[in-house]
Amino acid sequence: MINFVAANIIVSYISIENYIKTIPKNIKGEIMLNEKIQKALNHQLNLELSSSYEYLAMSAFFESLNFSGFASWMRIQSQEENGHAAKIYDYILLSNSKVELAQINAPSLVYKTPKGVFEATYKHEQKVTASIHNLAGLAIDTKDYATGNFLQWFVNEQVEEEANALKILERIKMIEDSKGGVLYLDKELGKRAKSV
Ligand SMILES: [Fe+2]
Ligand SMILES: [Fe+2]
Repeated sequence: MINFVAANIIVSYISIENYIKTIPKNIKGEIMLNEKIQKALNHQLNLELSSSYEYLAMSAFFESLNFSGFASWMRIQSQEENGHAAKIYDYILLSNSKVELAQINAPSLVYKTPKGVFEATYKHEQKVTASIHNLAGLAIDTKDYATGNFLQWFVNEQVEEEANALKILERIKMIEDSKGGVLYLDKELGKRAKSV
């Protein structure tokens, strides 16, 4: 109790920067993650945020075509990617390591049709899967069992992400010449509920 009061008095007389310097190294100076893992996790964090940004652009593209169902599906997808980024952000901090937020690239916006969007989505998810697998491989190589365990959720999630994108793409291919078919699929995808 006495120590706590004394610490408060000291804090009130010194700047926060100087106070942080007084915290023992073993509390705030030690990085728990291997540097390579920390870098790779930050890269994955950026990729998840880029995914969110890309899907948000796709949602806006669908809105511009009055496909509200596709737009809503993509908006929810964008929010999910933000959730993935938050999981990694929290894990880096929990591991007493450094979050490094890098620049997020502008969305590509080269798609012109619903089919083009889902082709790009499927391709993008394959890229994300490859990145997660690299990261999981790195965790095994460096004997980082905690990170390996943490990444297991992402490995499983990517199976679902790829399957969902491919399923929609295949359905679009089936109906792409039918305006009624595309409108029906738009209505169906609009039923997707928020998962967060
Ligand atoms: Fe993701
Ligand atoms: Fe994803």
